[in-house]
Amino acid sequence: MINKAKEAKEKFEKIILSQLERVEKMKKKADWIDYASTSPIMIGLCHGDGIGVEISKHAETVLKTMLKDELETGKIKVKDIEGLTIENRAKVNKAVPDDVLEEIKKCHVILKGPTTTPQDGDKWPNIESANVAIRKELDLFANVRPVRIPSEGIDWCFFRENTEGEYILGSKGFDVTDDLSVDFKVVTEQGSERIIRMAFEYAMKNDIKYVTVVTKANVVKTTDGRFSRVARRIAREYEQYGIKQDEWYVDIMAAKLIDPARRKDFRVIVLPNLYGDILTDEAAQLQGGVGTAGSANVGKRWAMFEAIHGSAPRMVKEGRAKYADPSSMIRAEAMLLNHIGFPDYAKKLNMALDICTLYEKKMEITGRDNGATGEELTKYILERVNDPGLEANWKKYTST
Ligand code: IPM
Ligand code: MG
Repeated sequence: MINKAKEAKEKFEKIILSQLERVEKMKKKADWIDYASTSPIMIGLCHGDGIGVEISKHAETVLKTMLKDELETGKIKVKDIEGLTIENRAKVNKAVPDDVLEEIKKCHVILKGPTTTPQDGDKWPNIESANVAIRKELDLFANVRPVRIPSEGIDWCFFRENTEGEYILGSKGFDVTDDLSVDFKVVTEQGSERIIRMAFEYAMKNDIKYVTVVTKANVVKTTDGRFSRVARRIAREYEQYGIKQDEWYVDIMAAKLIDPARRKDFRVIVLPNLYGDILTDEAAQLQGGVGTAGSANVGKRWAMFEAIHGSAPRMVKEGRAKYADPSSMIRAEAMLLNHIGFPDYAKKLNMALDICTLYEKKMEITGRDNGATGEELTKYILERVNDPGLEANWKKYTST
């Protein structure tokens, strides 16, 4: 038993040292990339696997339509990055194969299709999630996930911490003995500060006076306790702008997201990684399903845009891949366009998406053969994007 404890202590020491090193790296403040002076802007397309193959094909068509002029002038270049499939990742036994990571790093932003994340007992080797690995490798610390239900006055923007929490060492836990397993949760001052500050900045820029912080600091006292403390410290800086912060525990927050009397009040929600993972799926389901929600993974140098959901192997197995909803990736694309400096294109695309999936709804995606295919929905979205009366049409729906 003493030997086992000693082995564990050695592993733990290594983990602590690597985390201390990471903290030092975070302390070196880098500047944000400036897209206005970046030419060409390189967009990498990773198609993923499962339904990713299908929906990223549609997302690619939309992206190339939106950026037609810039692709022609060479201001923007789009390149395919092969090899981020579960088959290839399993073959080389890596979350992200080295050559793929190298290609990703040569781009500025990535549009990524869903990729399969194995767990123990699957037919695949139990490798780390590609999403998690890329987020860590590129230091994409902010996972921004908007969810809107206009008919109910819901307009939420989640700022999920994207590199720490239970995720950072999710593949580094270990079985100490045949009976005892240990995982780790890591929260740092710097990691908390950067995501919380981003949420407050967003609130300030968008004239939102209320930021909700989600933790379980009453039980998880040290790590969530730090997140909570940092949030209160940063909130004090923003009091002068009339922004208030409020802290909710994750369990009651999950309940309040489905409470019609309360949920409209939430606007900007900032939370540690795992709570963000869970609550954003819940929120997306309320909006119409996880297939409707996009996600931006943002760091100072790189950013990656993707659906909030996974590769849905069940849909593929049941022959339903072509009925998968591409609007998750297309919403993510609107975030991408905004991020690289084309807010007008982003607005146009979001308006077309709103018309097609929320208001006019000439067709509906159900994920089954009683609904539209992803290809049909994409065509419909492009029709609306190219409609000269797009904005007037959208206003007609939103002003009533
Ligand atoms: C998400 C996904 C990922 C996560 C999975 C695929 C690893 O659920 O982006 O929310 O847990 O972060
Ligand atoms: Mg998730």
